Amino acid sequence: MSTVIETGEQPSLRPERTPTGRRVLMCRPEYFTVVYRINPWMNPAEPTDTSVALEQWQALYDTYLRLGYDIELIDPIEGLPDMVYAANGGFVVDGIAYGAKFTYPERQPEGPAYMDWFRRAGFDVRAPREVNEGEGDFLLVGDTILAGTGFRSDSLSHVELGSIFGREVVTLRLVDPSFYHLDTAVAVLDPTPGREHIAYLPTAFDAESLAVLQQRFPDAILVNETDAAVLGLNSFSDGYNVVIASRATDFERQLREHGYNPIGVDLSELLLGGGGVKCCTLELRS
Ligand code: ARG
Repeated sequence: MSTVIETGEQPSLRPERTPTGRRVLMCRPEYFTVVYRINPWMNPAEPTDTSVALEQWQALYDTYLRLGYDIELIDPIEGLPDMVYAANGGFVVDGIAYGAKFTYPERQPEGPAYMDWFRRAGFDVRAPREVNEGEGDFLLVGDTILAGTGFRSDSLSHVELGSIFGREVVTLRLVDPSFYHLDTAVAVLDPTPGREHIAYLPTAFDAESLAVLQQRFPDAILVNETDAAVLGLNSFSDGYNVVIASRATDFERQLREHGYNPIGVDLSELLLGGGGVKCCTLELRS
């Protein structure tokens, strides 16, 4: 058994990992299928099985229930097969919901559908001017928003984000088409101010963005290509429990070494659409 810790984080100085409650929005994959191709994972010629997608999604839902999360549901809409990837539906902090404006026409009707849900749920909704795919590209870490661009969200949305939330926004440029949303290349393990901790795939970023990550997060867990290739980073953490793709075995070991409790789930069917755990999860922060 190896106990080597790959990063600079000293076990003796490591903060106690403590779970904090989470409130999330999810969407049952009732109409899930792959009929168009907007990322390299999608292949309309490869068959999908909606009942398998539903079963796997249910296992994720049940896992969150067991962890005590407060789970909200948005009704799926026929003809919007990617709606299951709720993370793209917006970005919600301080009770403010910044709506999504999708890159590809196939997903554009999802933007207003999610904004309607936010409005009915009592959030202060801000309609987007700029193209952005919500929490797929925006991650809150401490008081800072890490914001991805390169494939989907326009960097102009980062400026809009900053003015809406009045927080520092750090732009990160993605360069590998397989990791086209920030949440496929970065996992926020602990967002608590003062104890920020993330994991990421170094090769997913351009040199400048990688330097920013290295400088800001010297203790980050660096995930390997194999685990990233099963969307291992596309995970959801409450500060202690980290729900991850069960096939990301090295990442699982790294998480244990860093004091987390990894919980594996199999979302292989939803991976056919290019999404994993985090994609199916939108955090609602009031
Ligand atoms: N098929 C979807 C798309 O390409 C997958 C979205 C995955 N979501 C995410 N948050 N990474 O838009």
